[in-house]
Amino acid sequence: MIVKNISLNNFRNYENEKIEFSPNVNIIYGNNAQGKTNILEGIYIFSVGKSNRTVHDSELIKFGEKDAKLNLEFFSQGRENSAEFKIFSDKRKKIEINEIPVKKNSELVGKFNTVYFGPEYMSIVKEGPKNRRKNLDILISQLHKDFFYSLMQSKKIIEQKNALLKMDNPDKMMLSVLNENLIKISLEIIKYRFEYIKKLEKFSKIYQNEISGGKEDLEIKYNSFIGYIEEFDDKKIKKRIEDKINSVFKREILYKESMAGCQRDDIEFFINGKDVKSFGSQGQQKTVVLVQKIAEVEIIKEEKGEYPVLLLDDITSELDIKRQRFLLSKLQNMQIIITCTDRRKFKNMENTKFIRIDKGRQI
Ligand SMILES: Nc1ncnc2c1ncn2[C@@H]1O[C@H](COP(=O)(O)OP(=O)(O)OP(=O)(O)O)[C@@H](O)[C@H]1O
Ligand SMILES: [Mg+2]
Repeated sequence: MIVKNISLNNFRNYENEKIEFSPNVNIIYGNNAQGKTNILEGIYIFSVGKSNRTVHDSELIKFGEKDAKLNLEFFSQGRENSAEFKIFSDKRKKIEINEIPVKKNSELVGKFNTVYFGPEYMSIVKEGPKNRRKNLDILISQLHKDFFYSLMQSKKIIEQKNALLKMDNPDKMMLSVLNENLIKISLEIIKYRFEYIKKLEKFSKIYQNEISGGKEDLEIKYNSFIGYIEEFDDKKIKKRIEDKINSVFKREILYKESMAGCQRDDIEFFINGKDVKSFGSQGQQKTVVLVQKIAEVEIIKEEKGEYPVLLLDDITSELDIKRQRFLLSKLQNMQIIITCTDRRKFKNMENTKFIRIDKGRQI
C-alpha cells in the first residue's frame, strides 16, 4: 500500500493543497498547529471511512465553508487506485473508490490499509478498556469485513436492548429474541478477537524480548465479558455466552440496562507474569504499545501480502531515541508518513522526503 498523493479541499485548515509522497519515508514538519496531523487524519479516513479524532464529520469542514473534499491516489495490489471522500454540512457524506460510490463503511474497510500511531495511543495500556478494544477492532475490521459487520450488528442489538429495558414492563419475548441474536453475534466477535489477540501476542512477544535485551516476556490475555478465553472451542464458548447472557436477564430488567456483551471485553498485558497496567513502568507501558503497533503492521503484511501505510504522529515527543530507532529499524521497505516539529531529529535518514507545512500550506 503506497499513497501517491492526497488533495485536501476545505478540509480542516486546508483550502486547496495537493501533497505528493515518496514510497519510502516522508517527514511532515512545521510548527505547532499548522496542519501536520490534519494530513495524517485525511489519509487515515480512507482506511475506515471516518476520522480517528472526531465522530462529528462536520468538524472536518474548514471553518466557514459548506463542504470538504479529500482525494487520495494510492497503489495497491499492483494497481493505481483513486478514492474520494466528500463531507457536506447539510447531507450525508459520499465516498467513492475508483469512481464507484461506496454505500456503507463496510464496503470501504480493507481496500486501503493503515496503521496509525500517535501520542494518544501511549496511555492505551493504562487507561480503561475502550481504546484497547477499539484499536484491536480497527485492525480486525481492516482484514475481515464480516467482523466489522458483526461489530455493527452487536452495537445495534445492544442499543435496541437498552431502549427496551428503559421501558416500564419491557417485553420479555422481545428481549429473548434480541438475546438469541446477541449470542450468535458475540460468538463471532469473540472468535475473531481471540484469533487476533493470539496473533498480536505472537509477534509482539518477539519484539518485546528483543527491545528489552531478552529480559521481558510479554503475554496478552483476552479477558472477555464471559471471562478469560484460553482457547476457542465453538460449542464451549457458545455455552458460556448463553450462560452469561441468561444469568443477567433478571438483573438487566431490574437495573434497566444490558449487562453482557462484547462491549465489555478487555485485553490485558503481562510482562514476566505481572500486569503491565498496574505494575509496569511508564517506559514499559509505552514499549508494549510500540510493539503492538509493529505487530499490527506485520499481521496486515502477512494477511494482505502488502504492507499498510504507517502513519506516525509526533512520536518523537513520546518515544525516546532508542524506541524510535527500534521502530524504524523493524519497519523498512514500507511507506511511512511521520509528523514532527523538528526535522533535525530525522536528519540522518536515507530515502526521506521532507514536507514543510505552514498555516495549512505546503511551503
Ligand atoms: N475545521 C477546521 N477549520 C479550520 N481550521 C481547523 C479546523 N479544524 C482544525 N483546524 C486548525 O488546524 C490546526 C491544527 O492542525 P493540526 O492538528 O494538524 O496541527 P499540527 O501541525 O499537527 O500541530 P501540533 O504540532 O501541535 O500537533 C489548528 O490551527 C486548528 O485551529
Ligand atoms: Mg499534530
